Amino acid sequence: MATTTIDLRSDTVTQPTPEMRQSAFEAIVGDDGMGEDPTVTLLEASFAARVGKEAAVFVPSGVMANQIALRILTRPGDTVAAGRRQHVVGYELGAAGRNASIQFQILDDALGTFDLNELVEVLEGDGYHLPSVTALFVENTHMASGGRTWPIEQLRRLPEIAQGRPIHLDGARLFNAEVATGVSAVEICASATTVSACLSKGLSAPVGSVLAGPAELMAEARVERKRLGGAMRQGGIIAAPALLGLNTMVERLAEDHRRAQIIREAVAQRFPDVAASLEGQATNIVVFPHPEVPALLASLASKGILAGPVAPGVVRFVTHRHIDDAMAEQTAEVVLSL
Ligand SMILES: Cc1ncc(COP(=O)(O)O)c(C=O)c1O
Repeated sequence: MATTTIDLRSDTVTQPTPEMRQSAFEAIVGDDGMGEDPTVTLLEASFAARVGKEAAVFVPSGVMANQIALRILTRPGDTVAAGRRQHVVGYELGAAGRNASIQFQILDDALGTFDLNELVEVLEGDGYHLPSVTALFVENTHMASGGRTWPIEQLRRLPEIAQGRPIHLDGARLFNAEVATGVSAVEICASATTVSACLSKGLSAPVGSVLAGPAELMAEARVERKRLGGAMRQGGIIAAPALLGLNTMVERLAEDHRRAQIIREAVAQRFPDVAASLEGQATNIVVFPHPEVPALLASLASKGILAGPVAPGVVRFVTHRHIDDAMAEQTAEVVLSL
């Protein structure tokens, strides 16, 4: 009988550490709407340096970071090339249409990346009555494909293919990509005009994402953040734990990746038909198709394991700071016993 619930629904369930709670208590704060919160300013500068960009803006969520990126990189009526399963396309309740009045030119991203030849075709299709693709959005790690990473060689080719069009990197789990590939965040982000990352997922902060890019664009991002209602006042209360997440939680992500692999191997063993689809997944997310997702999730829940659907017919396990070795092993045992 299960004694504790093993919550693998998302890395967003992570609780702030005692140090994070203390840092919130002690944070020096001011009115960030007036640019006077030193803790927010420090977080923004630290993040910008960490990803090799000029400036950054602290925002309440990853969705808002993506929405602001759309609003500063496009104009209403534009078309943005992006993968079908990217968060900005399929998991933001249609916000891109509502907030930025753009449409997407969808590329196949079942394995996390696009076929760059398909991307070239889409961009060359520009002209006459064809929609003009004016920006490119990529996601790394790519959540819906099981946290897959973009190979750095492919990322490096993007600016040449984009031919001056801005590129946004949705790096909600950017640091998982850094840890899994051994390529620095600066290098991963080098081909992107703007990059966003969430501090509230594997990094365990309670709230917050950061958007970084050229200083001029970040000044525009502050205006769009205000328009979306995301400008905060004494934001240092949440920026302090977010800063701790950025400074102290990145290396730990390797543990999440190792534990996800324990679960992934059990899934491959129990469901050999889907084993091939798990190849290439190497971070903290395990994703696989199953014909009876609700029944599978109910069966897991009855044994103390919480997982979730990530799309119709697709199951997702996500490891995080509260999943230790014993929990990963127990999950593997339960999966094998299904
Ligand atoms: C790839 C990706 N981008 C953006 C987001 C949005 O982050 P938030 O939930 O903080 O709005 C998520 C959240 O799961 C995500 O996985």
